[in-house]
Amino acid sequence: MIAIVGAGRVGSEIAYSILENRIDDVTLIDLQADLAKGEALDMMQAATALEFDGAVHGTGDFSEMKGSDLVIIVAGQARKPDQTRIDLMNKNAQIVGSISKEVAKYAPDCKLLIVTNPMDIMTYVARRESGLPKNHVFGMGNILDSMRFRTYIAEELGVSREDTQALVIGEHGDSMVPLAEYACVAGVPISDLLSKEKIDGIIHKTVTSGADVIKLKGATVYAPAAAFALTTDAVVNDRKRVMSVSTCPSGEYGCNDFSIGVPVVLGGDGVERILELKLSSESQRRFDASVNALKAAISLLSPI
Ligand code: NAI
Repeated sequence: MIAIVGAGRVGSEIAYSILENRIDDVTLIDLQADLAKGEALDMMQAATALEFDGAVHGTGDFSEMKGSDLVIIVAGQARKPDQTRIDLMNKNAQIVGSISKEVAKYAPDCKLLIVTNPMDIMTYVARRESGLPKNHVFGMGNILDSMRFRTYIAEELGVSREDTQALVIGEHGDSMVPLAEYACVAGVPISDLLSKEKIDGIIHKTVTSGADVIKLKGATVYAPAAAFALTTDAVVNDRKRVMSVSTCPSGEYGCNDFSIGVPVVLGGDGVERILELKLSSESQRRFDASVNALKAAISLLSPI
């Protein structure tokens, strides 16, 4: 069973995407119990047309996450007009910290997947407050960034998205690092197909694409939900997928004691291995900036 804490726009879309992709049963938990129950009821009425007997159940009771193999935290606030990024970080850290303690109480053997922004910082908080093993706590953001990177490569070249491969590492935020040196189309490096100027344009679009959606409709919903279906499938079905997730390295990439996006093998045991890549000097410079941005944010976390 998968428990999702937070039945708002993104949480409910993730639940529906798990149902649509026939991955597992879902328990949807929210402080607003009626919202969780209503979303679940609506989805169950869709399930007949999907010809799938999986169940989505809504509740306000955290103890119902008991026995979950995977818990997804997507509860939190969006930034209000008068709120700074740091205020939002500290508000969401309180929420994610308190939910992580419930997870440790009711589902200590689960894999814990963090969505709430700022996601890398929230993954660090969840790991610290839950006390779960390092490899069982990870955050999703770079998979979505990588999907966006692939979309813009395909668009620029007029080829199928399916034939593109690309990775984004670092912070899931302004300092993310799209790895141009490892991006390819059917195995052909994009540097053989596109000018440096075009590649820089694609990288710029990748970095700003989340904000572009938020500016237009207030939140990103479908793309993160689709990325979550991939992540969830990797864990629930032990797929050993190679993806970038936010995790706390043990010295890899020169990082320790905080969470950052790096390529991993994701399977039934969570982050089963970190893949350490040689970075170009430009990517290394961007990655170092990402590390500094995350360390600076962590230093501004208020006690929980
Ligand atoms: P939303 O406002 O629609 O939903 C948030 C839900 O959390 C609400 O239903 C609220 O009642 C619930 N909630 C708040 N505190 C709670 C608590 N202590 N326990 C249980 N439920 C609680 O927000 P939306 O649009 O669904 O976004 C949620 C989060 O996901 C935001 O932080 C957003 O920035 C983040 N996000 C992250 C992405 C990623 O790629 N990592 C992509 C998209 C969104």
